[in-house]
Amino acid sequence: MSDIEHRTPAAPAPLDWEYAPAPEARDIVSFRERYGLYIGGEVVEPRSGEWFTTSSPADESPLAEVAQAGGEDVDLAVGAARAAYADGWSSLRPAERAKYLFRIARILQERARELAVAESLDGGKPIKESRDVDLPLAAAHFFYHAGWADKLEYAFPSRTPRPLGVAAQIIPWNFPLLMLAWKVAPALACGNTVVLKPAETTPLTALMFADVCRQAELPAGVVNIVTGDGSTGAELVRHDGIDKLAFTGSTDVGKAIQRELAGRGIPITLELGGKAANIVFDDCALDQAVEGIVNGIYFNQGHVCCAGSRLLVQESIAEPLIGKLKRRLQTLRVGDPLDKNTDVGAINSRAQLDKIRELVASGEADGAEIYQPPCVLPERGYWFAPTVFTNVAQSSRIATEEIFGPVLSVLTFRTPDEAVEKANNTPYGLSAGVWTEKGSRILWMASRLRAGVVWANTFNRFDPASPFGGYKESGFGREGGRHGLEAYLRFDE
Ligand code: NAI
Ligand code: MG
Repeated sequence: MSDIEHRTPAAPAPLDWEYAPAPEARDIVSFRERYGLYIGGEVVEPRSGEWFTTSSPADESPLAEVAQAGGEDVDLAVGAARAAYADGWSSLRPAERAKYLFRIARILQERARELAVAESLDGGKPIKESRDVDLPLAAAHFFYHAGWADKLEYAFPSRTPRPLGVAAQIIPWNFPLLMLAWKVAPALACGNTVVLKPAETTPLTALMFADVCRQAELPAGVVNIVTGDGSTGAELVRHDGIDKLAFTGSTDVGKAIQRELAGRGIPITLELGGKAANIVFDDCALDQAVEGIVNGIYFNQGHVCCAGSRLLVQESIAEPLIGKLKRRLQTLRVGDPLDKNTDVGAINSRAQLDKIRELVASGEADGAEIYQPPCVLPERGYWFAPTVFTNVAQSSRIATEEIFGPVLSVLTFRTPDEAVEKANNTPYGLSAGVWTEKGSRILWMASRLRAGVVWANTFNRFDPASPFGGYKESGFGREGGRHGLEAYLRFDE
């Protein structure tokens, strides 16, 4: 018997392979015990006198105390932003404004590792993603908008672009620093000042960003950061000193904000939920599609507004595709967000975990078939295994509601017309994916899908030059590109 033959039976099957731990250094970031509010260029104690703790969802350990801003605090922040606007920021030579944005972009790059670790600690996302996606894209947004700051007349020829004033910006917890960049960079490039409210479970990178602003010597009051929960956000929306409101978060809160602002003449950008269709035709490259499906729904634990949470697969290839998908799921590594090998990290909060569990239970009760790969979830913290539902009814809640977790619902179709009809059969319209080898079919589909972004043979690709936003209950207004600039300008014509 040859040596090889002799050894073959004992060789481990691929699923038995173990990855050695590859932990990112935790000590590159040291949080302060307490973070005050960033108002008028200073870190100040909250007038409210209230604080809350932000913790790591991976093990529930507390990370820092953060101020819970009240009405008086929000008022001070808006006042500081107003003063900075009037005191020079809005009339600063645009090329000078650009310099600050370039500086911020470079500092984000320099401090990328520290910020990535902080992001993964506070929010639970894998370090691989905060390092390779969130941080590079956040810096790219500042670079991109720095480039526009002194070219606005060229972006809008024969119109006269002017800043709006004080921009109130409320962001969610799924991409904390990246959403900050999406909001702050265009606002500043256009000559506005900002009051930003980060989400209550992930305030730390925004507070570190306050330090980045100081490092960049950004004039005091141009960026103000008020931490707190939804009540702080509501105070900001209600404040009569704001000139613009930009919100990313749930559709319910988006609707409440729109009601609150009705009749006040304040321009609004709302980027809300989604239930995107990822549509796979029988002529596509199957293995590539499987990677795209995995990236579409398990990236960032599925806490992604444009996640490909509904897989529409052509009936003729449903069986092989689902087989491949299940096998691929078995190779996903769920666990410590700070391990460089981790693919799926922690669920952001207990509340979000409860929501995912409730919707998954409803899917099972509706008779859908559930598949989860064998994986050992850590005992402490908030975790949910990557999940696929097959035999999903169109009317089932798991096919219609945003789960915002690592849960995929599979539906089938026979013809392109049926694919379009099913894809558009949702109150949302943020994104969609199409997998096919035919360029003509991509264009045919893209012109019929009611979604702000349509990806072809890829998914979850972002670029600061490309406008992003939705239809219907996914909100309105665009972020990124020239369209995104327009949301922070008025035109005296
Ligand atoms: P949320 O909409 O309550 O939170 C987003 C931000 O809005 C946070 O900063 C929050 O403090 C603030 N906020 C809450 N209530 C407010 C109010 N009345 N006025 C002003 N600001 C307010 O989202 P939540 O509760 O954390 O998540 C619930 C669901 O929303 C998720 O399960 C998911 O389906 C969806 N969601 C969608 C996001 C997206 O990117 N489109 C992001 C976050 C959540
Ligand atoms: Mg946290």
